Amino acid sequence: MKPTIFITRKLPDELVAPLKEKFTVRMWDSEEVAVTKAVLREEIAQVDALWTMLSDTIDRDMLESAANLKVISNLAVGFNNIDIEAAKEKGIIVTNTPDVLTETTADLAFGLLLATARRFNSAEKDLRQGGWLSWTPMGFTGMDIHGTTLGIIGMGRIGEAVARRAKGFNMHMLYHNRNRKLETEEKYDVEYVELDDLLKQADHVVILVPFTEETKEMIGERELSLMKKTATLISVSRGGIVDEVALYDALKNETIFAAGLDVFETEPIPLRHPLLTLPNITAVPHIGSASVETRRAMMKMNVEAITDVLEGREPKDQVNSLASAR
Ligand code: DGY
Repeated sequence: MKPTIFITRKLPDELVAPLKEKFTVRMWDSEEVAVTKAVLREEIAQVDALWTMLSDTIDRDMLESAANLKVISNLAVGFNNIDIEAAKEKGIIVTNTPDVLTETTADLAFGLLLATARRFNSAEKDLRQGGWLSWTPMGFTGMDIHGTTLGIIGMGRIGEAVARRAKGFNMHMLYHNRNRKLETEEKYDVEYVELDDLLKQADHVVILVPFTEETKEMIGERELSLMKKTATLISVSRGGIVDEVALYDALKNETIFAAGLDVFETEPIPLRHPLLTLPNITAVPHIGSASVETRRAMMKMNVEAITDVLEGREPKDQVNSLASAR
């Protein structure tokens, strides 16, 4: 009997083909609509491998039924959608897709910064609605990026890639991270500061920390109140790190200038969400790694990891070490 794999979203045939040559593959049949919980639960009870999306919640309860499951490979670098401790207890390897998405996600972060501070969205919307009656001296004036101070919260691989881009814009760079990174400081000319100091001094703040118990709502009312009235906030790692109620108030009361969001507490963000009523928000639907080349590279990593585990090899990019559980 060949091992069985369940893929939780419809993925390009040519990327799934190498798995089909060796294993029995079942795949959810929609690209847009997520797999139902009931089907996911049923599949988890049967399969040897699960290929998941960041939108699938694989919690302890969901893993309860796993009988033969050996590997969960997540199409993302983040893996907060999976209870990796519960997986570890059941001897299930979890893998992710780091590195290949670093530059693409940094492109999005920096692009979102440009779009937000320079108000691309409201300017375009106005143009499309026929609002462009004449060139206006102060129309759609935003905030400069070049020569300003950038605060990077979370100096991992993507943080460094954002710093490389910021250097080209002649920005002064501050960062805050769980631990100081002396080599990075020297290499990219970034200065370590405490979080409050970063928020007070930066003209633009980019959030790149992963979602954990520690980072949950780390940017709330108090933190937002420390930011400059002219500052922009860019959030591209995970929803829930910024308190959305506090953010709404800060934007509505114009105690900060604008926010660019790629991630939200609830995804998809409900269309009636108060944040979407504000003009000083630039919102995109979690597209950090969404370039054709990068998404294909990520999928190839998932294929490799699943194949490795099902053929008895250690996969690369394992996020829960099973050594202590075995
Ligand atoms: C990830 O891979 O975790 C990113 O959020 C994708 O955009």
